[in-house]
Amino acid sequence: MARPKIALIGAGQIGGTLAHLAAIKELGDVILFDIQDGTPQGKSLDIAESGPVEGFDASLKGTTDYADIAGADVCIVTAGVPRKPGMSRDDLLGINLKVMKAVGEGIRANAPDAFVICITNPLDAMVWALREFSGLPHAKVCGMAGVLDSARFRHFLADEFGVSMKDVTAFVLGGHGDTMVPLTRYSTVAGIPLPDLVKMGWTTQEKLDAIVQRTRDGGAEIVGLLGNGSAYYAPATSAIQMAESYLKDQKRVLPCAAYVDGAYGLNGFYVGVPTVIGAGGIERIVEISLSKDEQAMFDKSVGAVKGLVEACKGIDESLG
Ligand code: APR
Repeated sequence: MARPKIALIGAGQIGGTLAHLAAIKELGDVILFDIQDGTPQGKSLDIAESGPVEGFDASLKGTTDYADIAGADVCIVTAGVPRKPGMSRDDLLGINLKVMKAVGEGIRANAPDAFVICITNPLDAMVWALREFSGLPHAKVCGMAGVLDSARFRHFLADEFGVSMKDVTAFVLGGHGDTMVPLTRYSTVAGIPLPDLVKMGWTTQEKLDAIVQRTRDGGAEIVGLLGNGSAYYAPATSAIQMAESYLKDQKRVLPCAAYVDGAYGLNGFYVGVPTVIGAGGIERIVEISLSKDEQAMFDKSVGAVKGLVEACKGIDESLG
């Protein structure tokens, strides 16, 4: 059987890291696409030359021609511009919306059967726009945010408790931004919910609140440290986990920006929720009951995403 074909749209920091991970994990053959001639070709060749050392069998090709993504099984989109210090993800809206239009049309024409994972920010609005421009089924277009946000949460929690991050699970809901909702009562160490760990004296409520806030600000913390660009290792590895679940029909339960129609009181809207990812794409939305406070935080997050979607419609009238 032929290897799966993985098209990476955008060959910058995240795109290059995605290509490297996809090759090392032998998820399939990689097409790295960018408008900047030379970058995708150079990165592809560099990674391919690591193959004999790593011992992976995957072919890599860099291109500036959408025809090369034809028949891709998975497309991961990072095309666009990242944040600079002092910018919010929302500041990227206008410029990245134009990029989503070009990318959506490229995917529509060349890879209409692909499972599409968007990483470009502001994430929840961009994945909605990308779905509109590409015309693909909603279940085949999603955004990577929740896996990254919960990985950041898990990292901080494992550090605080001095336990293996393998035994820490975390649960986040809502948009990928300052209003994201880390749910402490569904986040655990070896199955023990965080509020119980506070009662057990493992940490204090104040420290937990600080970790929740640090998780919300996780992207900005990296932007501030790098001084030029935004996070790429953890975002790339998070998207690869989603792609792997699709390609291997693993049916992992992963939080991501998915189209929610009916659950959580939403009627056809992209926002971060727990999902099941398998061969059908987003196969299921996992709906949990929320407390009054959690619902209020979720509603605020949805409201923030709605504002960005409306702004997109104002910029590009074809989206209206
Ligand atoms: N089509 C294809 N590629 C494009 C296009 C386009 N229309 N416009 C820009 N690009 C390419 C750039 O040439 C660049 O190589 O997208 C790449 C973006 O790479 P980086 O600037 O290194 O950004 P990166 O850190 O990878 O982040 C990309 O993901 O997390 C988000 O906020 C982040 O929106 C940003 C995106």
